[in-house]
Amino acid sequence: MYKKLFFASLVLWLITLGFFAKSFIQGNTAKSTDNRLAVQLSPAEKDEVLKEMRTVLKALNGTLTALGENNFKEASIAASGAGGKIAVDINPVIMTKLPLEFKKLGMSMHDDFDKLSGDLNQNMSSADAIKRLGQITNKCISCHAAYRLP
Ligand code: HEC
Repeated sequence: MYKKLFFASLVLWLITLGFFAKSFIQGNTAKSTDNRLAVQLSPAEKDEVLKEMRTVLKALNGTLTALGENNFKEASIAASGAGGKIAVDINPVIMTKLPLEFKKLGMSMHDDFDKLSGDLNQNMSSADAIKRLGQITNKCISCHAAYRLP
């Protein structure tokens, strides 16, 4: 009797776990008219993600502007504005709706900004900084090409 109950609860547990694993990997997505994956978020969740995007663009702009003025200290501060610290504020419910690839790409972009911010304080040349910004913006392009928020 107890053995049966044990196995029944184990099976239920595994189904639940499988469900969470599936949603963690696939997120909440659907095909869209332009062949990108449409991530299904509530209007408030979409606002939160787009707000983060505008913060990232502002950080990118600040970094480039400061580099143009040869102000590496300011460039470092600006780059940190798109680092991992802005991702921790994202609502965990949104995280469960984003596909794993999206999360990985987003996190690696934040890491790149943090690394760049550190290196800008370590005698990095502006040519190297611009090269790194080129690599970072490639991640913007890849993600925008693959996903949209309907
Ligand atoms: C992990 C995925 C991902 C990465 C990386 C990413 N974005 Fe986005 N971004 C999106 C999605 C999805 C949208 C919504 C696009 C749509 O619906 O067409 C978006 C929208 C935006 C918007 C529009 C904001 C608004 O208010 O409408 C801006 C600006 C933006 N991104 C800037 C950037 C910049 C700059 C980078 C790189 C430094 C970047 N994003 C990297 C996923 C990403």
